[in-house]
Amino acid sequence: MKVVKTVSELRAALAAPASSTGFVPTMGALHEGHASLIRRSVCENGRTVASVYLNPTQFNSAEDLEKYPVSPAADAALLEGLGVDVLFAPDYGEMYPEGYRYRVIENGFSGLLCGASRPGHFEGVLTVVMKLLNLVRPDRAYFGEKDWQQYRLIEGMKEAFFMDVEIVPCPIVREPSGLAMSSRNRRLTPDELSLAPALYRELSSGRTVEEIRKNLEGAGFAVDYLEEREGRLFAAAFLGKVRLIDNVPR
Ligand code: PAF
Repeated sequence: MKVVKTVSELRAALAAPASSTGFVPTMGALHEGHASLIRRSVCENGRTVASVYLNPTQFNSAEDLEKYPVSPAADAALLEGLGVDVLFAPDYGEMYPEGYRYRVIENGFSGLLCGASRPGHFEGVLTVVMKLLNLVRPDRAYFGEKDWQQYRLIEGMKEAFFMDVEIVPCPIVREPSGLAMSSRNRRLTPDELSLAPALYRELSSGRTVEEIRKNLEGAGFAVDYLEEREGRLFAAAFLGKVRLIDNVPR
């Protein structure tokens, strides 16, 4: 695996011909959910590029960014073991030479669900994903369905800007308890970790939204949103300081 940190090194690494390129953008702190995206890309493409970049522009809270888990050595070892060809691990200066003066803004769906409680979040996500796609120019890019809203917004951006890439959604990977895998799970205390699977259990229980909200609040969650749309039930809820999200078909 070639590890590159600058845009010019990335361009040089990608100059070698490949039958097709798959791309998996990440913010690091990798888990089995990320591994599933990588495996799929390796299986479907001649070459797989992954990025590890903790993108500050998508964090609306300095504390959340500060506390976001990082594990660069373990991440690189995992990616190498899965057969990634190129790992792009840039810093802020490489990704935002213009200082975040240019941004991708969506004026509808991005204001709902996660966007309602995290102002500016999707602006940061869409901007960095546009930059990464322009740099890597993959045939396919892979995104997890845990961040369903993110996936839909990226798909919409691709359509709106006539981008020549296939956006591939991949199913949520869960712990045996049902808890959706997330880098943020690492920040849960042992007590919170034992409560956390209740989120998925409630979402998939078939109960009404009101009952689910009551049960989650009774179990110690602070519910941020619980909403049905697009034939899915979406939730974000805090356990202590950690915000968990999940969604299920309904
Ligand atoms: O889903 C993520 O990890 C991030 O939002 C992404 C797509 C890598 C952009 O920073």
